[in-house]
Amino acid sequence: MAQKTFYITTALYYSNDNLHIGHAYEAVATDAMARYKRLRGYDVKFLTGMDEHGQKIEQAALAADRTPQQHVDYIADLTKSLMKTLDIDYDIFWRTTDVAHKAAVKKIFNQLYEQGDIYKGAYEGLYCMPCEAFYTQTQVKGGKCPVCERGVESIKEEAYFFKLSKYQDALITHIEANPEFIQPKSRANEMLNNFLRPGLEDLCVSRTSFKWGVPVDFDPDHVVYVWIDALSNYAVGLGYTGEDDADYKKYWPADVHIVGKDIVRFHTIIWPALLMALGQPLPKQVFGHGWLHIDGKKMGKSLGNAIDPNMLVGRYGVDAVRYFLMREVVFGQDGNFTNEALITRINADLANDLGNLLSRTVGMIDKYFGGKLPAVQSDTEFDESLRETAAMVAKKCEEAYDNMQFSDALNEIWNFVRRANKYIDEVMPWVLFKEGGKEDVLAGSLYMLAESLRIIAILIEPVMPNTPRHIYEQININDDAIKTWESAKKFGLLGREVDICKGDIVFPRIDLKKELEELANL
Ligand code: MSP
Repeated sequence: MAQKTFYITTALYYSNDNLHIGHAYEAVATDAMARYKRLRGYDVKFLTGMDEHGQKIEQAALAADRTPQQHVDYIADLTKSLMKTLDIDYDIFWRTTDVAHKAAVKKIFNQLYEQGDIYKGAYEGLYCMPCEAFYTQTQVKGGKCPVCERGVESIKEEAYFFKLSKYQDALITHIEANPEFIQPKSRANEMLNNFLRPGLEDLCVSRTSFKWGVPVDFDPDHVVYVWIDALSNYAVGLGYTGEDDADYKKYWPADVHIVGKDIVRFHTIIWPALLMALGQPLPKQVFGHGWLHIDGKKMGKSLGNAIDPNMLVGRYGVDAVRYFLMREVVFGQDGNFTNEALITRINADLANDLGNLLSRTVGMIDKYFGGKLPAVQSDTEFDESLRETAAMVAKKCEEAYDNMQFSDALNEIWNFVRRANKYIDEVMPWVLFKEGGKEDVLAGSLYMLAESLRIIAILIEPVMPNTPRHIYEQININDDAIKTWESAKKFGLLGREVDICKGDIVFPRIDLKKELEELANL
């Protein structure tokens, strides 16, 4: 049977140097899903990249004394380096300034113009430059952008329009017939009630007030307005309209576009309408995640409260940061970032629960058996309950990951981690050791713990790509066959003769008070 494909994307990040923990959040979630699908045996393509055109970027380049191209090159390097720091294992890093991208955008624009889906008119409207979006009089309250609350300006210019209104009924039908298309469900209702049912207006798709963009082929005073340019990346990044479109044929339609709630509208109305006009299949799903806030407020460099993910990874390690992001916030809802919540979770869940389980297990095998468990089979009265939890955890976790409910998946795993720690307290290996004569029982129960750790290592891998390696090293697991997702559904695959290799503490405890003081003084 042919391997199943899975195509997943993040939004393209605007080319600016203030990518913060909110952007990292989206990248980590997308990466976790891509890793999960790879573990499940899918042929995965994961696209991320940069949205590099527009007036705001042109102005930022000028302010930094760079040409726009130099500026976006510089930012693309910074972003790639952040992705590396966060262990984002993407397949494609797409840039809208790529020669192939610009050529494709021209082709798409030409086709839509030639078939009558794009026409020339005049635009008059209220424009928010930071958001690069037009708003209607009713959306703008007190002269302020409804999204970022900064000032909007009144603009009139000759422009090309995409016949978005023509696709209104088809979009409504599609959304109603495909409940999976927009997730979470509440966002589908929002699109239907706030935008689609009240009626769509045609969309302005070109600008003459700036130059930094893809020029309209047949009218070069105009540049293609950013949304057509940016949205088309998801298909163009696979080769759509290009000479080699093998990947497009293989991976399109996308299984899921992961985007923040602020841009769900563009991805579930404009993008599908463009695809309909181009006669291409629609993505199977757009998942609109919530936003990470700081003290309940929007985060941003200009607001002075942006948290730098590089700094967090530098202090606590990448797996701890990824764990926190995926565990703390229900995917789909907004969440709040605080240093205290982060450190508390590192201490409780990682240092205490998981770290202790590993160090206690390895420590006891070392102390009681000189590092090597004898190959004996023995059960304690507590084994059944641990085995039962183990038997359920992979399935429950799978269900949660399948629905992109990362926090639920981690919660299930941590219930198992805590169950295993409780097992140690129940069995009391130190008493068995002291009493003597029960080496088989002692070895058998330590085996139970080592085997539990093997399963835990597999299940955390999508979110924590490095920690499994430390667990495998310390328990000395080399056989890839018992590191697969399917193998996590079976208890007892680890050979009985466990030969440990004691290592460093994986998650050291952090002094909360001292750390918070240090962070406050940064
Ligand atoms: N360039 C557009 C997207 C074009 S997609 C064809 C854009 N860029 S962005 O850099 O502003 O945002 C990129 C992604 O990061 C978006 O999905 C956005 O919702 C997300 N986030 C930005 N701030 C965020 C938080 N504070 N929290 C969570 N996600 C955040 O929009």
